[in-house]
Amino acid sequence: MAIRKVGVIGCGLMGSGIAQVSAQAGFPTLVREVSANALEKGLGSIRRFLQAGVDKGKLAAPEMEKTLANLTGTTELSALAACDLVIEAATENLALKRELFSSLDSLCAPQAILASNTSSLSITEMAAFTKRPARVVGLHFFNPVPLMKLVEVVRTVNTDAEALADANAWVAAIGKTAVNCGDSTGFVVNRLLIPYMLDAVRVFEQGLASRDDIDNAMRLGCGYPMGPLLLGDYVGLDTTYYISEIMFDEFKEPRFAAPPLLKRMVLAGRHGRKTGRGFYDWSTNPPS
Ligand code: 3HC
Repeated sequence: MAIRKVGVIGCGLMGSGIAQVSAQAGFPTLVREVSANALEKGLGSIRRFLQAGVDKGKLAAPEMEKTLANLTGTTELSALAACDLVIEAATENLALKRELFSSLDSLCAPQAILASNTSSLSITEMAAFTKRPARVVGLHFFNPVPLMKLVEVVRTVNTDAEALADANAWVAAIGKTAVNCGDSTGFVVNRLLIPYMLDAVRVFEQGLASRDDIDNAMRLGCGYPMGPLLLGDYVGLDTTYYISEIMFDEFKEPRFAAPPLLKRMVLAGRHGRKTGRGFYDWSTNPPS
């Protein structure tokens, strides 16, 4: 089944990026938020990103116009009824996902693919909220979505080969590279990345090296674009903590256990870029 029309649920950090790359690749894309305010905030961030691309000479102005013309915002879930692919990028809350997946299941055509951008919840469990488990996949994007080239395409034991092929073809059509994997908590990237980021917090917590020395070590020693503490701030320390809790709960391995410092930073509201303060102070540019 060819994917023509795409729906995205959530216009936050990830949802706005997914909606943008879909629209930019020429797919009429509907993005749904819960309120007009949240929708306007998300669409505003897309416009700013595209405008920055034009200003930097990375994007032709007509391409920006074409992208925006392909993009429609809505606060009604029912507006997504005619979509061939719907990607859920709402808050990581299973009760909410249950509500969304069962509503989408009744609204959308039986052949439509329902996908989740979850980074750590089970795709199999979400598929079980629908009567079409064979047409449910994970499509896990990376932050910042317009710049990161990877999408993890996640299959469950019930996903059929056609849905998987359609999902892979769509990922290629939006110019991303797919990595296919089974439905295991954290998939491939977070299975490797989260213990690394938690270890960086442990190294800092134990006083082995300063923040800047830890980040410089990995940036300059291994060629990573960002050190692990800056990356934690960038992704969100709350998100990192939340994923680690789910992974620890699933695998019961100490390497997924959040260090006490991470928990306390989250409790203190130091979530990184999104709250202006984490390991770094984000009120300055670059963060200091
Ligand atoms: N439009 C078009 N292109 C743009 C653009 C825009 N608005 N803004 C930037 N670009 C282009 C730049 O021109 C540049 O292109 P070039 O390489 O051809 O010159 C490229 O994008 C990089 O942009 P910048 O130079 O502005 O930025 P940096 O070089 O500082 O890179 C970064 C920023 C891409 C965020 C880089 O630091 C990076 O890759 N960091 C790591 C991010 C990462 O690891 N993400 C994954 C997080 S884990 C995750 O998301 C999973 C979740 O489940 C936790």
